[in-house]
Amino acid sequence: MSQKLRSQQWFGKKGKDGFIYRAWMKNQGIPSHEFAGKPVIGICNTWSELTPCNAHFRELAQSVKNGIYEAGGFPVEFPVMSLGETLMKPTAMLYRNLASMDVEESIRANPVDGVVLLCGCDKTTPSLVMGACSVDIPSIVVSGGPMLTGKYEGKDIGTSDIWRFSEANRMGSMTDEALSLSEACMCRSRGHCAVMGTASTMACMVESLGLTLPSNAAIPAADSRRKVLAHLSGMRVVEMVKEDLKPSDILTREAFENAIRVNAAVGGSTNFVLHLLAIAGRVGVDLTLDDFDRLSADIPLLANLQPSGQFFMEDFYYAGGVPVIMQLMKDRLHDCLTVNGKGIHENAKDACCYNENVISGMDKPFKPHSGIAILKGNLCEHGAVIKPSAASESLMRHTGKAVVFEDIEDYKARIDDPDLDVDENSVLVLKNVGPIGYPGMPEVGNMGLPKKLLAKGVVDMVRISDGRMSGTGFGTVILHVSPEAAAGGVLGLVQEGDVIELDVPGRSLQLKVSEEELEQRRARKQPNHPTFERGYVKLYQQYVEQAHLGADMSFLRGGSGSEVTRDSH
Ligand code: FES
Repeated sequence: MSQKLRSQQWFGKKGKDGFIYRAWMKNQGIPSHEFAGKPVIGICNTWSELTPCNAHFRELAQSVKNGIYEAGGFPVEFPVMSLGETLMKPTAMLYRNLASMDVEESIRANPVDGVVLLCGCDKTTPSLVMGACSVDIPSIVVSGGPMLTGKYEGKDIGTSDIWRFSEANRMGSMTDEALSLSEACMCRSRGHCAVMGTASTMACMVESLGLTLPSNAAIPAADSRRKVLAHLSGMRVVEMVKEDLKPSDILTREAFENAIRVNAAVGGSTNFVLHLLAIAGRVGVDLTLDDFDRLSADIPLLANLQPSGQFFMEDFYYAGGVPVIMQLMKDRLHDCLTVNGKGIHENAKDACCYNENVISGMDKPFKPHSGIAILKGNLCEHGAVIKPSAASESLMRHTGKAVVFEDIEDYKARIDDPDLDVDENSVLVLKNVGPIGYPGMPEVGNMGLPKKLLAKGVVDMVRISDGRMSGTGFGTVILHVSPEAAAGGVLGLVQEGDVIELDVPGRSLQLKVSEEELEQRRARKQPNHPTFERGYVKLYQQYVEQAHLGADMSFLRGGSGSEVTRDSH
């Protein structure tokens, strides 16, 4: 081993201090030789029964431990805050930065030489990666894997069907009993959402960044090969400690560019933008919103996965997964180093596509356009995001009158009002769902359509907000408007009946109201979002950055390294 192990600052000490460090660990039945210079590997576990997507992580951690032991390391599993997308209120995103702080401080404060990050449900991946990057000791990600494809009445279903089922239920074409029956049909195995939602997007992101072993993203949670990958990752991180291979060695600007291109090819979630920007901020890579548009502009959609396409993550794995995507795109990807010590081209060189309905070639893509388009204009001075592959072609250029909701409660109260002045050409505008305004930027941007328009057969409309959309959602939905309404953005000045002009090919979003009129509205405007006077939410509202910067807290940018400068023993 080239360098002295960090953990030996604890376990290698003589006298009273060393006694205290070792003796209390020994109450777990650990023999003395475990402390005698083995790499100590933390397993950062987001297991929680309140995060159902990660509820199998104790078993997964055992596989990681087996690998660590086999490679001569000493595993220590520890819990960190777990963020379950479905249950946490007001939104799991509010706590992403808090969880990242927990991860960062837990790693730095403890005697670990390397760390395995067990990630699954949406926010658990970025929060763990952000925290680990700010410490920068050897780190490897093991994702929990997607659920098996849901089966309902002979059809394949996944999380994106929730939106369809709920609209059908609202319209009376699906009974409450049928809706209830479909619940267990959708979530029939361990794992996270089985579509290319945010969790799968995050799993692809960490694989394309080089933070996982190849094939990590798509192996179903219930597939025994998921445990094999966990075991091998445990073995590998021990070697990474010996090689001193850290996140900062892997997360170069080129690695971020690769992740953006792969995300475009797989049709990843819009949440990818926020989380990648936040991770880049932790490692000091200067990434901007424009990079997402520029780098994905010439990448076609290769993966035919819901919500942009037809298939599920299980199919994606059987077709070859991310290594096939990387192999097909090798001319567009930098040959960056990954956690296994090899470059991505070497890792992907033998990848083979087993189902061209699921992963198409570059010459015959599933859709010619993919990725994420960044809009600019007076309505979103610092940018807004749209996912064209999940939107309607006919609405890519659209002019319509605004129907304005001041907040999500206002939307819920009026959307189904028969007297609401709305038609299929209207543009639905939702304010105060941004990082500060909600606070926490919930996934409400893909507002359900007015009942009276659904009854007429309308299936999509232009919707604009400063919030986010679930990675499983779809529609012509403009998100992450920055600056948000609560931060003085023009979005906060939109009034009922204002004309809004959307031009996705021209990357433009304009409010057709004169600057003079906007000035007058600005002068009259009173803050109308909730503010908090104590606790974490106060801290969050005070320091959270706008969406175009990744919505991290300003004081969390960068890292503090792994050194512990004071010693109380
Ligand atoms: Fe956890 Fe979708 S709810 S990944």
